[in-house]
Amino acid sequence: MAKTILALTSMYPLGFENLEPDFEIIRLWKEKDPEAAIHERRNDIVAVVATAGRAVSRKLIEALPNLEIIGNFAVGTDNIDLVAAQERGVIVTNTPDVLTADTADTAIALLLSVARRVVEGDAYVRIAKWLNGPLPLGASLGGKTVGIVGLGRIGQAIAKRAVAFDMDIVYHGRSEKEDLPYRFYPQLIDMAKDCDFLVLSCAGGEDTKHIVNSAVLEALGADGYLINVARGSVVDEEAFLIALRNKTIAGAGLDVYENEPHVPEALFSMDNVVLLPHIGSATVETRSRMGHLVIDNIQAHFKGEPLKTPVTA
Ligand code: GLV
Repeated sequence: MAKTILALTSMYPLGFENLEPDFEIIRLWKEKDPEAAIHERRNDIVAVVATAGRAVSRKLIEALPNLEIIGNFAVGTDNIDLVAAQERGVIVTNTPDVLTADTADTAIALLLSVARRVVEGDAYVRIAKWLNGPLPLGASLGGKTVGIVGLGRIGQAIAKRAVAFDMDIVYHGRSEKEDLPYRFYPQLIDMAKDCDFLVLSCAGGEDTKHIVNSAVLEALGADGYLINVARGSVVDEEAFLIALRNKTIAGAGLDVYENEPHVPEALFSMDNVVLLPHIGSATVETRSRMGHLVIDNIQAHFKGEPLKTPVTA
């Protein structure tokens, strides 16, 4: 049996070369018949490399009798059935910390872009609309309140950046963090009422599914903006589209969507949204560090050494 890694994602720019002396690699996106490729090699596969949007389902876990480790090329693990992995004793690792700063930067980029109409302004110049008059006014950041949903590592990095723009920070999450100087809201709807920018940086999955619903969007209000660098599943997309269409919220900056890479076409013609293709961690530096972490975890596991970043249930 040749120990084999089933790669569901490319880990660009690093790749799998560092693992090739010890493992065979199935690059699933290159396979003509992916299901057949998995079935043929199911007894050889000892590791899976996945990422956001590349599901490691119970079905896949149960189809691989010798699977030992899932290395997620992402910090979020909502793409993995963690219960099924735990039941089978399969280890899961992810890539925390290394992507915190870039993801927080992405949230701020979206916030600035949507409030100051950066993307709209760029198009305005290019298509010579400026000749007919100025761009409509934007919204200031200073003195406004940012409500962060999920004040974990990324949420705290967003808060730090927003403070530099003289913004006030409040947050909602599973628990209050006594050591931080920001106001905690046990109820998301109350925070939405009080903030100007609702920024989502929480984990995806069942616990947070559609917590941003029509009532929360209504509470955010006609001057409020939604920024999402978490997961599309956190927002009830149908309610969100209605709120945008009816202008019951002012606008949105999105890096994530419910059904990536498919984005609701209704958004394409809206001036008050800025749309990114899930690039929170997508820099050469960070993606390289993430790739190294995935590789280090897999190598450590098979050498019997301690894992760098195990996910604990
Ligand atoms: C990206 O979405 C990640 O979870 O790292």
